[in-house]
Amino acid sequence: MFTKLLDALKANRRTIVFTEGPDARILDAAARLLKEDLMDVILIGNVDEVKAAAEKGGYDVSKATFIDPMTYEAMDEMVEKMVELRKGKMTPDECRAALSKGNYFGTMLVKMGKADALLGGATYSTADTVRPALQLVKTKKGAHLVSSSIILYREGANGPEKLCMADCAINISYEDTVDKDGNVTVSAAEKLAEVAIESARTAEFFGIDPKVAMLSFSTKGSGKGSTVALSQEATAKAKEMAPDLAIDGEMQFDAAVSPVVGQLKFPGSTVAGHANTFIFPCIEAGNIGYKIAQRLGGFEAYGPILQGLNAPINDLSRGCVADEVYKMAIITAGMA
Ligand SMILES: CC(C)(COP(=O)(O)OP(=O)(O)OC[C@H]1O[C@@H](n2cnc3c(N)ncnc32)[C@H](O)[C@@H]1OP(=O)(O)O)[C@@H](O)C(=O)NCCC(=O)NCCS
Repeated sequence: MFTKLLDALKANRRTIVFTEGPDARILDAAARLLKEDLMDVILIGNVDEVKAAAEKGGYDVSKATFIDPMTYEAMDEMVEKMVELRKGKMTPDECRAALSKGNYFGTMLVKMGKADALLGGATYSTADTVRPALQLVKTKKGAHLVSSSIILYREGANGPEKLCMADCAINISYEDTVDKDGNVTVSAAEKLAEVAIESARTAEFFGIDPKVAMLSFSTKGSGKGSTVALSQEATAKAKEMAPDLAIDGEMQFDAAVSPVVGQLKFPGSTVAGHANTFIFPCIEAGNIGYKIAQRLGGFEAYGPILQGLNAPINDLSRGCVADEVYKMAIITAGMA
């Protein structure tokens, strides 16, 4: 699971910034990363507070760089850069106030090239971790939106099993983007198609040969509704945008994973019955779906791994443990 990432980290030394320096789980993971010499680490927070928390927990983070936004010597330059990036949407005072917080400050460290990757969310919500990245790091060239994948992993009877599910964390639903004259500039279907293609790339990065199922409560028009139409249109768009990708839809989850049901409900599909990359029509289905696999299916869940961003920035669950922070740090820095 981690071999490719560890090789990447050995080949290119990376610096990761943790936005919540005093958190014991962050310090535990940081100490392990530093001891194993896997990457350089920046811990954000009041330096005395971070060091006291590390001492209290017995975590050796002496090789980390400690930065307190409140005493950061290049803060004026950072504020100026952020004002420029927000293009009139935030005043200098608003930017300075935002930068006093680890989430915005850490994101600007990445944006300004002082760190390669960022991991946050041990205490910040997903929205508060992701919003600074959306506002400041922005979508990569050619992408219309940022989305995310969850990589699921378990040791099965016949060896390791890896799956990819998306988008379980960022896009609540898919809507058309319209210009001031009411013309659709990016359709909802195009956005969902982009999520499917980006997720297939993420799956490939984790050693999965992607077979992408566009999930629905309907298979091949067996049900009707706006989300069914969305999955159908997105499937057609994705096939157009990535003709070499194995992708089919719309289909129900049983048709996606059971070869018998797949051939019954979706005869002739090479994806039905063999899917390993699952694209949900909305966040509700995705978020609930991956947690069922995690909690009842015995899968370890890695992510959300953000896709379509200009830099590797990832979000932790607030319920995370130190080992998850350690693994997500390897994933995040390894993707840099
Ligand atoms: C991601 C999320 C925080 C963005 O919401 P928001 O901050 O209210 O978004 P806004 O519409 O105010 O947009 C803020 C900026 O982000 C951009 N943005 C929002 N969603 C985006 C996306 N999916 N991709 C790229 N950019 C996006 C907007 O264009 C805007 O940029 P601008 O300020 O430069 O114009 C929101 O979609 C969300 O809460 N998602 C669910 C998170 C969650 O709770 N997940 C479940 C737990 S894992």
